[in-house]
This record gives sequence, structure tokens and C-alpha cells, in this order.
Amino acid sequence: MSQELSKARAYEEKEGDKVPSEQRPLFHLSPRIGWMNDPNGFSFYKGKYHLFYQYYPYDKKWGPMHWGHAVSGDLLSWEYLPAAMAPDTEADRGGCFSGSAAELPDGRQLLLYTGVIPQGNDYVQMQCAAIGGGTNYEKCQNNPLITQSQVPSFSNHHDFRDPKIFSEKDGGYGLVAVDCMENRLGRVLYYRSPDGLDWKFRSILSENDGTFGRMWECPDFFELDGTHVLLVSPMDMRTTETYYSGNGTVCMIGTFSESDGTFHAEQDQPIDCGIDFYAAQTMIAPDNRRIMTAWMQNWDTISYVGETLPWCGQMITPRELHVKDGRLIQQPVREIEALRRETVHYEKQRISEKTTLEGVSGRTAELLIEIEPAEEGSFSSFEIRLAEKDKTYTSLIFDPLQSMFSFNRSFSGTVRNVAHERHCRVPDRNGHLSLRIILDRFSCEVFLNGGEQTLSHVLYTDADAEGISFSAKGCADLTITCFRLSR
Ligand code: FRU
Repeated sequence: MSQELSKARAYEEKEGDKVPSEQRPLFHLSPRIGWMNDPNGFSFYKGKYHLFYQYYPYDKKWGPMHWGHAVSGDLLSWEYLPAAMAPDTEADRGGCFSGSAAELPDGRQLLLYTGVIPQGNDYVQMQCAAIGGGTNYEKCQNNPLITQSQVPSFSNHHDFRDPKIFSEKDGGYGLVAVDCMENRLGRVLYYRSPDGLDWKFRSILSENDGTFGRMWECPDFFELDGTHVLLVSPMDMRTTETYYSGNGTVCMIGTFSESDGTFHAEQDQPIDCGIDFYAAQTMIAPDNRRIMTAWMQNWDTISYVGETLPWCGQMITPRELHVKDGRLIQQPVREIEALRRETVHYEKQRISEKTTLEGVSGRTAELLIEIEPAEEGSFSSFEIRLAEKDKTYTSLIFDPLQSMFSFNRSFSGTVRNVAHERHCRVPDRNGHLSLRIILDRFSCEVFLNGGEQTLSHVLYTDADAEGISFSAKGCADLTITCFRLSR
């Protein structure tokens, strides 16, 4: 084992194991110590879910990228394994950037990742591999496996990254990765391989025409419910009716042309409308569910951190994906139901003045909520406050007249002035809205209308802010089930 990797492993074992469990989310993965960004190598291998991540153990900031590693039997209770990779070879001296995993026919686990090689003030990126048995991995002697010579023309020749591998119907493998054209716009390249190691360029799967930001990152491509889905995380987005500026995410649904290997988008939507979501990656579970994870954080808001925590970065609650009527639908994995403990239920509570409900509180909870007018047009706004204590709270506001849902954590106790507010238009259903809210100590994820839209946010309000309250301008009826979540 290289010095770099053994140093990282010793450090994370010593420092990571000191972190008390209440300083971590209950069921969201956080880095063992230090910094985490993208999920990598999300896969099922030898009876366990594996989730690797972009990792810099030595600080709460991005630094030379390692791969952290955790495994789980249920996607919610994570056990740390030793860091899988450190930047320690000629092909990845500048970092082991994002990538993915697959099982090889001989039963070994293949990790594909981007090796970064510094060149003066510049760098190049190429695709590399490491192979192992679930804990220890050997980098391939002949790295990099995919070089600039396998990138089509018009590439800027230094942004070429984030390989996502998948099984092809013929028994071989496919891979999508992104590169950047001379005009600074990103595109998705498609490669094929019979064995996961010997890769040939097949086609340009999709090209950014300027609609979605500039460079694209972290692609994923799969078939779901009879259609094809392309996920990308574009940089430098501009605000539109549907998208926010900065680093965003896009789900394109469309058709794949087998004859020339191109994808044609017919619909698009943000994968998640919240502030903290980026670099989504999916896998297929043994029962064939398509499950997605993502970094519950965003480059634009990384200064909003848990000041007293020794780590920075979390993953979302893994989500089951479907496509219905040309839209991506997301639900938290059903395994979460096993964490449900005490339950309280209220049926059609009339809400106008600020109201709290006995048994509805907490920072590790799941709330199933239906809001409806007491009679037609009887309310103009409905507010749910979470993580509330004295003057500190986070609001979810539904405006049925504008068909607008808003999230606002400006009063969450934050000491940073970054984006704390998001709005998303919801379908007009005569003042009806259904919400599923997942709270886990340092986050709040919202699933609207059966997962048609989601909003993910980190929340670093003090742990004793546990209040939840409801109010309406006018009057509305609230039906709610609240589960306390615990192991
Ligand atoms: C996306 C990203 C990837 C890259 C990694 C580096 O968040 O910029 O494109 O591989 O992070 O940590």
C-alpha cells in the first residue's frame, strides 16, 4: 500500500472514530472525517451496498481527492471502510476524481475514476481503473485506460471526467463521461468495452447547445420504465422559470438511437429543486430498483457548514426512481419505513393561527402531510416551520394562488449569507398539496405530490431546535402523520 493511502487510513481511523454519533446524521452518509463531495462507485457488491465518495480527510475543505468508502445493508445505516484510493500514482497525482463501480465477470470489483495529472499551471484528466475485492484496490498498471486520443475533436483537452459504467445487454459494458468542447460547452461521450478495461469510443451521446450551463459534470445514463434518462450536473447555469443559476442538475428524458449511439431529449426538469443537491449517481439494486444518491450540498453554498462539526458534506437519502408521464418521480428508499418508531396522526385539523400538535416535533422525523382548503379558496398561504426554537426556524410555504412552494432557511441560525431560499412552481390542484418531509439532524428533504418534485437542504440549526408548527393565512385543513425515526 502506498504511503499516501496508509497515511489517510491511519488518520481517518484515529480522527473519524472520535466523532460522537450525535454529531452525525442518523441515516445520511457523512464523511468519516474532513470533506466529502460527489458520490462515487454506488453499487451492490458481495451482498452489500457500496458507496464511495470524493474525500479529503485532512480538512473540512476540498483538497487532493481520495476515495472514501462505506457499506450498508439497507442504504441507511452506513459502516465506514478504509479509504479506497489516494492520489499516489503517475496517472492520478493531481487527484482521484469521480467515477463508478461494477462487478467483473470473475467476481472482482472494478472502480473506474478520473486521474488528474498536473501540467505546469494546467492539468489533464484521463480515465483510470483500480480492481479489488471490496476493501483493498490495486490501481491498474496500464492506467490511464482512456486517454485524450480517444476523445473526439473539438475537445478543450483538459476537462474529461466522471466515468459512469453500466452493463450492456450483450454482456459487455458501456460508459458515459463528460468532456468540454472548445466553445466551453460540455458534452457526454459514450464508450464501450467487452471486459471493463479495454474501452473504445462509440459516440457523442449528447451535446450541450448552451441551454444548460457550460461544462457538464457527473453524467449517468439508463433505461427506466420504457424510456431513456440522461442525468447531468451543469456548471454555470443561468436562472430561468425552472432552473436556478450556478451549479445545477438536469434530468433529460427521451429516446436513444441504437444505430448511431445518440440520445435525444424530449423533456427536461431539475432533478431536485432544493439548494443542496449535485452530482447524482444511480445503481440497480438486486431487486431491480433504480436507486439514486447525490451530494446533498452544492459548490455555490459550501461556506454554509456545521461550524462545530469535524466533517463537511452529506449524501441525500437514497431514492427510488420512476418515470411517469414523461417526468422523473422520486421516493426515499422503502427501507426508511423500518426506522419509523412512535407515530401520531391528525385528521383534517383546521389551521389558521400558529398551531403546534402534540407529538409532532423532532429533528429525526418523517412527516406525511396533506394540505387542503377548508372550503374553496379559503387560504392564501400555508406555512410549516421546522427546527424551531425561539426566533430560529426554517419555513416551508405553500401559496395556492401562485401555485408556488418555497423553502426558506434564512432564520435557521445561519451566519453565512449564501442562498437560503428556493421557490418552485407546483401543479395547480385547487389548493391541495401533499408533502413528505424527511428530517435527519442536519438536513431537510421535501418530496412534493408523491415525489413529482423534491427539494433537498442541509440545515445546521442547533440540535435542540425541535419545534414544528403550522399556520395559514385564511384557513386550511391539515392531515398529518408524524413518525419519529430511530434505529
Ligand atoms: C463534481 C466534480 C467532478 C469531479 C469532482 C472533483 O462535483 O467537480 O466533476 O470529478 O467533483 O472532486
